[in-house]
Amino acid sequence: MKQQHSLSSFLFFLLFLHCANTFAQSPAAAPAQTPAAVVAQPPATTPTQAAQPHGITNVTKILEKAGHFAIFIRLLRSTQEESHLFSALNDSSSGVTIFAPTDSAFSELKSGTLNTLSDGDKSELVKFHVVPTFLSTSQFQTVSNPLGTWAGTGSRLPLNVTSYPNSVNITTGLTNTSLSGTVYTDNQLAIYKIEKVLLPKDIFASKAPAPAPVALAPEKPTKAVPAATVESPVAPVDISSALMFAHIMLWDQLAWLLLQCLLCNV
Ligand SMILES: *[C@@H]1O[C@H](CO)[C@@H](O)[C@H](O)[C@H]1NC(C)=O
Ligand SMILES: *[C@@H]1O[C@H](CO)[C@@H](O)[C@H](O)[C@H]1NC(C)=O
Ligand SMILES: *[C@@H]1O[C@H](CO)[C@@H](O)[C@H](O)[C@H]1NC(C)=O
Ligand SMILES: *[C@@H]1O[C@H](CO)[C@@H](O)[C@H](O)[C@H]1NC(C)=O
Ligand SMILES: *[C@@H]1O[C@H](CO)[C@@H](O)[C@H](O)[C@H]1NC(C)=O
Repeated sequence: MKQQHSLSSFLFFLLFLHCANTFAQSPAAAPAQTPAAVVAQPPATTPTQAAQPHGITNVTKILEKAGHFAIFIRLLRSTQEESHLFSALNDSSSGVTIFAPTDSAFSELKSGTLNTLSDGDKSELVKFHVVPTFLSTSQFQTVSNPLGTWAGTGSRLPLNVTSYPNSVNITTGLTNTSLSGTVYTDNQLAIYKIEKVLLPKDIFASKAPAPAPVALAPEKPTKAVPAATVESPVAPVDISSALMFAHIMLWDQLAWLLLQCLLCNV
């Protein structure tokens, strides 16, 4: 990983020299602008944006634009809930409220948590973050608990919301958190940011002691959860696959830059 990184840096440096030569007339402006433009608008995104049919609200796109929801987006995709949401939002009679955990919320989980879940549990975890009605912040004052989610209702899937003058708090019995911001809202879809992953009891109750201490004392999770290191040798996979993705993006952009420079030279 480190080697690859320094190789990339070296190639970028070469490229920089090359481009600086090519654009000798404006040496200061050219190298500074080119990478920024590439990062902001990689050529691959253009066709996807055009492909959105009928103006159906695209949750993934909203989350991507907001940033810091990469893991939640990945889960939405891998569990097919992305398309489930898409068809739900195409049906104007039903609204949807999504509690979207940030990437740092996922990073607070005991390491390896996601990797050890079965596909079914992953699906349920994602569905647990989707309420099948549209709820504005003021409507949280009048909802009755427990709130039903796409994962279902009942004592093993409780999701209780309590509205206070300055906050809307959520509890699952295992996770306490509060809404930390509104990512998006119209009359059909509301997306709220949360700083903790909502852990449904029916998946995590048996592992309950683990997430709780992590949440209470994030600075020393290994002490509180001695089993973590033993149980999850695959833990870093989540992060490294994200890094890998970043690397692929980097190499894509590099290739694209190279191509541009070659074309400039012709
Ligand atoms: C929604 O947006 C995402 C990200 O921009 C894109 O990958 C996906 O194809 C879009 N979905 C639809 C159905 O347009
Ligand atoms: C949206 O709903 C309409 C009418 O129910 C249907 O014809 C259309 O195929 C749906 N589009 C998508 C992308 O699901
Ligand atoms: C959720 O609210 C219901 C009804 O008020 C209550 O019975 C239940 O104990 C609450 N659960 C949690 C986890 O707070
Ligand atoms: C959540 O909050 C309730 C009531 O404020 C508290 O009794 C409980 O211990 C908290 N649970 C966690 C996991 O922090
Ligand atoms: C609501 O949640 C916030 C942060 O998650 C917490 O600081 C606050 O004590 C909670 N309020 C109540 C009444 O539990």
